[in-house]
Amino acid sequence: MEKRVDDTKAQIDRLVEQLNRCNYEYHVLDAPEISDEEYDSMFRLLLELEGGSGYTPPNSPSLRVGAPPLDKFDKAVHSIPMLSLDDIFTFDEVLAFDQRVRDIIETADVAYTAEPKYDGLAVELTYENGRLIRAATRGNGTTGEDVTQNVMTIKTVPLSISGDDVPELIEIRGEIYMTKADFDALNEGRMEGGKPLFANPRNAAAGAVRQLDPSVTAERKLRITCYGTGIIKGLTLSSQTELISWLKKHLFPTPYRFQPAKDIHEAIEYIREMDAARATLPFNIDGVVVKVDDFALRQRLGDKTRSPRWAAAFKYQAHQAQTRILNIVPSIGRTGVITPVAILEPVSVGGVTVSRSTLHNWDEIRRMDVRTGDTVIVERAGDVIPHIVCVLSHGASSDIEVAEPVVCPECGSKAVREDGGAVLRCVGLNCPPQLQGRIIHFASRPALNIDGLGEKIAVALFESGLVKDFTDIFRLTQEDLEKLPRFAEKSAVNLIQAIEKSKTTTLARFIFALGVRHSGEFASRLIAQHYETIEALYGVKADALSLIKQMGDKTSSAVSEFFSDAGNIETIETLKTLGLTITNPDFGTAENKDTGTKDSGRRLAKLTFVITGTLPVSRKDVEGQIRRAGGTVSASVSKQTTCLIAGESPGSKLDKARALGVRTVSYEQYMVMFGPLSEQS
Ligand code: IVH
Repeated sequence: MEKRVDDTKAQIDRLVEQLNRCNYEYHVLDAPEISDEEYDSMFRLLLELEGGSGYTPPNSPSLRVGAPPLDKFDKAVHSIPMLSLDDIFTFDEVLAFDQRVRDIIETADVAYTAEPKYDGLAVELTYENGRLIRAATRGNGTTGEDVTQNVMTIKTVPLSISGDDVPELIEIRGEIYMTKADFDALNEGRMEGGKPLFANPRNAAAGAVRQLDPSVTAERKLRITCYGTGIIKGLTLSSQTELISWLKKHLFPTPYRFQPAKDIHEAIEYIREMDAARATLPFNIDGVVVKVDDFALRQRLGDKTRSPRWAAAFKYQAHQAQTRILNIVPSIGRTGVITPVAILEPVSVGGVTVSRSTLHNWDEIRRMDVRTGDTVIVERAGDVIPHIVCVLSHGASSDIEVAEPVVCPECGSKAVREDGGAVLRCVGLNCPPQLQGRIIHFASRPALNIDGLGEKIAVALFESGLVKDFTDIFRLTQEDLEKLPRFAEKSAVNLIQAIEKSKTTTLARFIFALGVRHSGEFASRLIAQHYETIEALYGVKADALSLIKQMGDKTSSAVSEFFSDAGNIETIETLKTLGLTITNPDFGTAENKDTGTKDSGRRLAKLTFVITGTLPVSRKDVEGQIRRAGGTVSASVSKQTTCLIAGESPGSKLDKARALGVRTVSYEQYMVMFGPLSEQS
């Protein structure tokens, strides 16, 4: 009988040890060796055995759950005060700290350690003969609160220490924190449950530790990292490096990338590296703690009232701050996207005053339920535009939901939900913030091909005020241009001539030049093949456009939206009064294999051409001619290629054609073989 009890006890001890090891592998090393199911079944067996025998070892994981709620916390007096750290913000201050240390201990170089400054809450764990007997918050440094029950629910806090170097007494200090992912999940759950959100992981962790009901703490997924000690009896540790090794050996989580530094410069290097890495770390850090490694030296340096002389906290610029939304307004960017922008009560984030913040898009507003008057967290990471992370609480004026605009705030054109997604875009041709980009595109070579109107000139035309809307391009005069610093008489004449020439163009080019979303050269030509005039497109329905073979749905709706905007049509009509003449050689040339009607009799029907190198004439023109004669122009050589037209300095296409045995001709040979191509061919 005795024997059986002993067997059970031994089995329980073994299970406890196994489960604690698994916990460590899972939560600290992030490298579980067994599956969750195996863990659960071992845990259930343990509960069963403990229940049956009445024996529960002090380090049993079963003790991590189930303590009854408290009325209040007991006070916990720290035998050695838990001090704070001096904050420093610049590398000069780090060097000054090192200088002060070396002045006192009078050596050339001091060995330091560097470790992340976890943004959580400090606790002290007291182990007597290897058993966790108390966990206390820092409180005011002298007296904190006894939160033992709560801290025991944290899976990575060892409930016991075992081995041959277990001290009679040891107070271990560390930081309780929450990972960013666990924090996000917590806030998401709270949002769904309509509960107020936590401002940051630190607040959530601190709130969880100070819960009277340990089962609430247990749900919060807290973690700990251990980096210091209070009293130690019966063990000698002589440095921070030794302490960290000892802690690791006894399965305490220790600071991520703990780093001994042979001098202050290595510590500074570490600070730099951590700053670069911190955005991608799974938890928040607010700096790096630099400590004198050697405990004997620490003794000589001693403490000031609030902080030790042997350590300093290098603080990074904060990325986040709390503020209030004064208003939410639509704002339009150069690409025509209309985004909601929050006007904020100005707040300093990492040394920069932030008074505006993007809300990304209109679905985001609904998802986060952001309203005017709300208290929010804003974040500024590096050069990224500040954005709103979350809403903490709705304010007095929060009852008004933000309405999504139906017209562009700048030009009053239609605001269209793009592709049914969250992006809202202005379709206005003349929309001021978009105008510069639109005109550069309008004048570009595959569009109206206005020679001499590149980006620089476009900018100059804007800045001088000569071009305030789209139609002004066609109104420019030589005198206007000569007023600009970059123009001599000749270049002014040339540009005016180029503009005049561009006024006569094809429908395909003109549609492309309008810069309608999703309408590249191919789609523009496709439309021109099916719509004879620009007027035929006014008010066109997306359904009608999508009947065109090879026409995408996105393009169809973008084109339809564009041509259903009255302002856009007015602009085109004005361009016409200023001399715009649109021809349409593409109309009716669409290849239509289904019916075989339009193209089968054409001269180059069923022939595929590829062009490489520089031709004596514009490549675009040759391509246009081939297409108009019913041929196909392809970008790459394949067995299907009828003929490769090779100009000067041909590329790799020539090699490929030779390898495939595809016929290769010069432009001149091509002309002889296929004859001069008139527009009517
Ligand atoms: S050592 C006497 N190391 O920062 C100095 N503190 O501003 C004892 N903290 O109260 C602290 N990470 O809550 C130390 N790696 C780290 C730390 C750390 C975070 C917190 C701790 C302390 C506060 C001081």
